[in-house]
This record gives sequence, C-alpha cells and structure tokens, in this order.
Amino acid sequence: MEALITVLPGDGIGPEVCSAGTEVLQAVATKYGHRFEYSEQLIGGAGIDAEMDPFPAATKSSCAESDAVLLGAVGGPKWSDPNATIRPEQGLLALRAAMGVFANIRPVKILDELAEASPIKRDRLNGVDIVVIRELTGGIYFGEKTRTKDSASDLCIYHRHEVERIVRVAANLARSRRGKLCSIDKANVLESSRFWRDVTVTTMEAEFADVELEHMLVDAAAMHLINRPADFDVMVTENMFGDILTDEASMLAGSMGMLPSASLGESKCGLYEPIHGSAPDIAGRGIANPCGMIASTALLLRHSLGLDDEAADVEAAIRHVISAGVRTADIAGPGDSPVTTTEMANAIIQQLR
Ligand code: IPM
Ligand code: MN
Repeated sequence: MEALITVLPGDGIGPEVCSAGTEVLQAVATKYGHRFEYSEQLIGGAGIDAEMDPFPAATKSSCAESDAVLLGAVGGPKWSDPNATIRPEQGLLALRAAMGVFANIRPVKILDELAEASPIKRDRLNGVDIVVIRELTGGIYFGEKTRTKDSASDLCIYHRHEVERIVRVAANLARSRRGKLCSIDKANVLESSRFWRDVTVTTMEAEFADVELEHMLVDAAAMHLINRPADFDVMVTENMFGDILTDEASMLAGSMGMLPSASLGESKCGLYEPIHGSAPDIAGRGIANPCGMIASTALLLRHSLGLDDEAADVEAAIRHVISAGVRTADIAGPGDSPVTTTEMANAIIQQLR
C-alpha cells in the first residue's frame, strides 16, 4: 500500500527516537512491499526557533493531508520560562485539537525480562496488562484560563458528547479484552467528575450492558496502580488524571522509554508518540531508548494503515531483541553494557528482516 506519514521530530530526544521510528517503518515497507512517504515538519520548540510558532501552518496542513502522524517529543529548558507567551506544549495541544484525536490509548504491558528494571517489587508485576484510555481534547487542558495579578484559574469542563465518545472507545476495547472497565474520577469533590460518572453509567447501561463497570476515585487509583496493578484491565479517565496516571503506570514497565501511545479520533488519521517527553538531560547523546517510539510505529501500522501483521511483526521484533538482552541505559541492569539508540533500532530492524 501507499501512505503519507507526517513526521514531527520536535525537541530534545524527539529527533533521535523519530529517526529510529522512520527507519523501522522503512524496514517494514521494504519487507512487505509498501510505499511510505514522509513529510518532516516543525512542532514545539523547533517551530518556535524557526518560525516563532509551535504549530506552524505548514505542519497543520501536512497533518491534514496525511494518513498518520508520528511525533517525537516537545519542550525543554530553553523554552520553559513560565511567563513566556509562546510555549512548545501549545504546539502539541493545538495539534491534538486540530486532528480531533480525543482518545489517547496508552497500553502498559510488562515484558517479563524487564521486571527487574521496574522500581516495583517483582511479585506485584506478574500479569500486568493495562490499557489506559485518556480523554485528550477536553477538560482542564482546554477550558478557559484566566490570570490577574493576584489570582488564576483553569476551567475543567466536559460536554456530554465528549464523555460519551471516550466511554464508547474504552468500552469497545474492554469488550474485546476481559469485559471489565474501570472509570477513574474525583466524584467525591468535583462536579465535572459527577457528570462524567453519570454519563458513563448511562452510556454503559444503554450500549454496553455486557461490560462490567467499576468507578474508582483517582487518589485510590494512584495507590492501587502500585499496590495491585494486575487487577486493572481497561481504565478510562479525563485528560489530566490520565496524564498523571500514565506517567505513574509507566514505572511498572521499568522505563517510560518502553511505552507507546496512539491518539485517535473519528478519522483514520491518528497521532502516534512515545509517552516519554523530550528528556533534555540526555538529548543529543544518542542514548535514548527508541522502543517506545518503535512500538508507536506498530500502533500506527495497525490503527491508521490497517496493517495488523506488520504491526505484530514490529512488536515481536522488540520483544525478541529485549529477550536477547539488548538494553539501552534506562533499562540496563548492573551487569549489562548499554547500547545506543541506533544500536537498539538496528537490532530491531535486523530482527525484522
Ligand atoms: C503527554 C505530555 C503532554 C501532556 C505535555 C507535553 C503537554 O505530558 O503527552 O503526556 O500533558 O499531555
Ligand atoms: Mn504527560
């Protein structure tokens, strides 16, 4: 097949992991006889530096014409003055809004071999296989903001259709797995959470009576994620709770560097990015773990291009290389000699061939 993919390297380690990602996509194209074209564009700090715009018009139109978008990371100390009016993160939020990708899917699955890399005790990790569905284009991230000299506010607002559509995504996924959905909120305090809970219940009763629904308060969820992570299957939650809980959940997998994400909307064109950030502390040294990005390319192949076998092939290659003991610094144990970003990517590509 032919596909056009917009590639947004962004900042920090973004460009390093992005080139690993596109090389893997190229290896897949060669192996299976596909033709992928790439349109590299600016986002985040890179956009600010070049054009004073974290989401330039050319980036927006390229994404609109593409079959999928692959993103590295945005942000870094260079642009992090809290008083700055233009910030890299605005580019990512504008991109998510422009693409209408309201459902952020963050799978947290633990490779047995990496259990030692996790700060959590090994016995807690057996059988952990969670998918967090984070609402991505609403809530406090996008509500009205105010600022005066002596006060500031961020509005957390959800509309019925926004809750309904994210619950549908999560419930459909739950149906294809253990038939169990856990909705996370703060309904004991927040009105927006009580609304979220009501709409969730109504939607589930009307359309997903076969899926078991549980509600959990976000503070308790944060605790149970560490205490008994294997009990979770599909979790659905609002934008900011999902942001926080997925960083926490990533530690179960040993390193944020391992985890992919897919952001999907009504159209086939999704946004794919590793869940890690720009990691300015290690940027430019070629030591970042490209596995989260490479796993994100697998999600791209599956969800936007419908190439299920190719996606499974990439995921199997990652698992194989990790089983063979190849480790970047973030997942290396005391006895391992860590490989570089390129070496890890090449090992995965070699396995694919
Ligand atoms: C993420 C990031 C972003 C978010 C930032 C960079 C705006 O933390 O993708 O999780 O908060 O959504
Ligand atoms: Mn985050």
